[in-house]
Amino acid sequence: MTRKAPSLIIGNWKMHKTIAEALSFVEQFLSLYEKVAEFSVGLAVPYTMIHPLAQKIGKDHHLMIGGQNMNDCTSGAFTGEIAAEMLQDAGASFVLLGHSERRILYKEDDAFINRKLKRAVQAGIKPILCVGETKIESSEGKTEEVLERQLKEALKDIDPKELGKLAVAYEPIWAIGNGEAASPAIAQERHHFCREILSTLLNKEMAEQIIIQYGGSVTTSNAQNFLAEPDINGLLIGGASLSLDSFLQIVNDEYSKNQQ
Ligand code: PGA
Repeated sequence: MTRKAPSLIIGNWKMHKTIAEALSFVEQFLSLYEKVAEFSVGLAVPYTMIHPLAQKIGKDHHLMIGGQNMNDCTSGAFTGEIAAEMLQDAGASFVLLGHSERRILYKEDDAFINRKLKRAVQAGIKPILCVGETKIESSEGKTEEVLERQLKEALKDIDPKELGKLAVAYEPIWAIGNGEAASPAIAQERHHFCREILSTLLNKEMAEQIIIQYGGSVTTSNAQNFLAEPDINGLLIGGASLSLDSFLQIVNDEYSKNQQ
């Protein structure tokens, strides 16, 4: 029986908001949300907002700020790129790696994601590895093959001992940004499969503890249905994290559940 790891709820703002809007969101969020001790909450924000938000939040709060991408090198002639150390310097404690928008729109392949993951591990920033199949792969029955490949390639040649901070986000690409979330039962099946693959790549105990988030059209109405599944330990939320009301409600619903 899988032991449920604590929840990790992350909002992925993608390319949205100004610094002023972000500061106002976070200020209101911090004053309204229930103090979260049992699980972690974070926002993956555009680079320009990492520093001002981290400064605003300070060290005492349980709201983490993270990046949405990073490069696999520490520095150099890579116009437009950003290094793990720069994210940390600005105040980020985690980073999304291999989001499907990066894989599809910017042609990031498994080998590049593997190098980034190695770099994130070396730098000590928490990596959230995103995996997921396209609609065509799903309809062709290739979902498991794709997930297995993405996980194996991303974790290739990394010592499991270094992966204590790793979290995985399962995001079926066909469910992102269109209001057509996967059913909790399908998501649970896929999460269980990912955990089985992780237990072959890491070890059984680590795989049982690892946080696997679901992402893809999460809303205030379906969030708790996903989190009720045994292998779903968190959420990666795009659209619904842009609105203070919906993000706050998802976080506070999870808080109330943990209090019961
Ligand atoms: P969505 O995005 O919640 O808007 O579907 C999720 C994501 O891309 O991380």
